[in-house]
Amino acid sequence: TVGKSTNILWHDCPIGQTERQKLMNQKGCVVWITGLSGSGKSTLACALSRELHSRGHLTYVLDGDNLRHGLNRDLSFKAEDRAENIRRVGEVAKLFADAGLICIASLISPYRSDRSACRNLLPKSSFIEVFLNAPIEVCEARDPKGLYKLARAGKIKGKSPVGFTGIDDPYEPPSDCEIVIQCKIGDCPSPKSMADQVVSYLEANGFLH
Ligand code: PPS
Repeated sequence: TVGKSTNILWHDCPIGQTERQKLMNQKGCVVWITGLSGSGKSTLACALSRELHSRGHLTYVLDGDNLRHGLNRDLSFKAEDRAENIRRVGEVAKLFADAGLICIASLISPYRSDRSACRNLLPKSSFIEVFLNAPIEVCEARDPKGLYKLARAGKIKGKSPVGFTGIDDPYEPPSDCEIVIQCKIGDCPSPKSMADQVVSYLEANGFLH
């Protein structure tokens, strides 16, 4: 679906990201949270948004589950649809970052190549990949939506090419990301301390003024 439009030209506006950012005490960027289902991505996204908001920063959360109720409602969980899901969210996140916001995207985004394509949409260093590294044992014990139970019972895959991430569908952990949040069996950081880890990174790298 790339490049089907012809005879299109880019139109620049005099008010761009630099001008918008002058009105805000921050630099637009994308904080991309990846990890297994139940690893705490949405919890971290909300805690981070709350923390930044309380410090006077503008954020917007793009949550995989939520976007599948609208923008991505036509997509399944087969590999090519997951890729399209990530591509669309990457493009939307890019627009939010260009608007000057700190855009927090939380999606399983299981494939390295899809995440890397999103990274390449953004200016250098404005894509901050956060790996919420919770082992499958922790995620499965939480099982907040009962989906691991369904997957173990073989009720998700059936005969379709769609599996459940981490059970019968792949998850490729990042090999080189900006932030790793470690969650071990019986020892997971609180939402606030996960958010603080990301806020420290944003402060140290000049995204918050
Ligand atoms: S992806 O892989 O990035 O396209 O997934 P995402 O858009 O983030 O959506 C993940 C949520 O969808 C629910 N769900 C599934 N996850 C993985 N595999 C399968 N087959 C599946 N079916 C439904 C699941 O609740 C995910 O929610 P989170 O918040 O990640 O737990």
